[in-house]
Order: sequence, then C-alpha cells, then structure tokens
Amino acid sequence: MRRVVCPGSFDPVTNGHLDIISRASRLYDEVVVTVLINKTKQGLFTVDERIEMLGEVTKVYGNVKVDKFHGLLVDYCRQNDIPVIVKGLRAVSDYEYELQMAQMNHRLAGVETMFMSTNPLYSFLASSLIKEVAKYGGDVSGLVPELIQERLIERLRQS
Ligand code: PNS
Repeated sequence: MRRVVCPGSFDPVTNGHLDIISRASRLYDEVVVTVLINKTKQGLFTVDERIEMLGEVTKVYGNVKVDKFHGLLVDYCRQNDIPVIVKGLRAVSDYEYELQMAQMNHRLAGVETMFMSTNPLYSFLASSLIKEVAKYGGDVSGLVPELIQERLIERLRQS
C-alpha cells in the first residue's frame, strides 16, 4: 500500500492545505494528515478541534485519515509504516527550510519527501494570515472551507 503523510499545524486548515491533501489522495492509496502537538505554542484551536475540522473537510476523500503526533515526524512515520512525506511549496522562500527538513528526515530515517507546487490560487495563503484577516473582520471566504470560516468567526467572537 502506498501510504503518505501530510504533516502540519493546521490551525486552522486552509484551502491551500486541502489542495495538497486532495491531490495527494489521487496519487496515493492512503493519506494520513497528522497534526503536530506543540506544547510550547498555544493555537487558536486545540489539536482535537483541528482534528475534528480536518475530519469534516476531508471526509469527501475516501482515503484520507486524520491523526496527531508529537516529537519527531520521522518517529511517527516509522511507527505507522509511512515512507513518504508530502509537502506543498508555495514559493521559493518555503524551499530553503523545507529542503533542510527533507534532508534531515532522510538522514534520520530514510523517509522521503515529495514536494508539490501549491496551486497559484493559494500560494499566498497561510493559517496565520487567515487568522489575522478574520480577526479584523476581513473576508476569508474562498480561502478556507465554509465550516472553517464559521468556526473562525465564532472563536474570534469569543476571544
Ligand atoms: O504547518 P507547519 O507548522 O508549517 O508544520 C511544520 C511541521 C509540523 C511539518 C514540522 O514542524 C515538523 O515536522 N515538526 C515535527 C518535529 C520534527 O520532526 N522536527 C525535525 C524536522 S527535520
């Protein structure tokens, strides 16, 4: 079985993430979207909330599973028998750090990284930017799924 992992913070998932996840789901048998548990950084959404939202917006793809991990991504890959990481590259500025991580992950565990070029419609997207725009009342429709937009507005209203 050709199984790959799409790792990230997904706080929250954007249409840019979904573009990569859906394209990976057409190329591989199973795509595991895994959310980093980062105890040093508090997100807008809890890891469980992010997982729940990811589950909702990826359920249309029959072969996408959602999970969480902490520690090294390569350890998660080893434990779950996943030989390949799929990442989106938005711009040249992403490349330097992504290349470094890909080389380290290969050095540590022989895990390969496959890069996909982001759809230009979403190449400027980042979860942090989405949160900032939504916080000040900007329109993020078309950049995140409707469900995520609703959750964002609701969460930002509370804070
Ligand atoms: O969505 P993000 O925050 O850009 O995702 C970054 C992520 C989670 C993919 C990256 O930080 C990661 O893989 N973290 C796990 C820790 C790890 O394995 N570090 C060594 C990388 S070489």
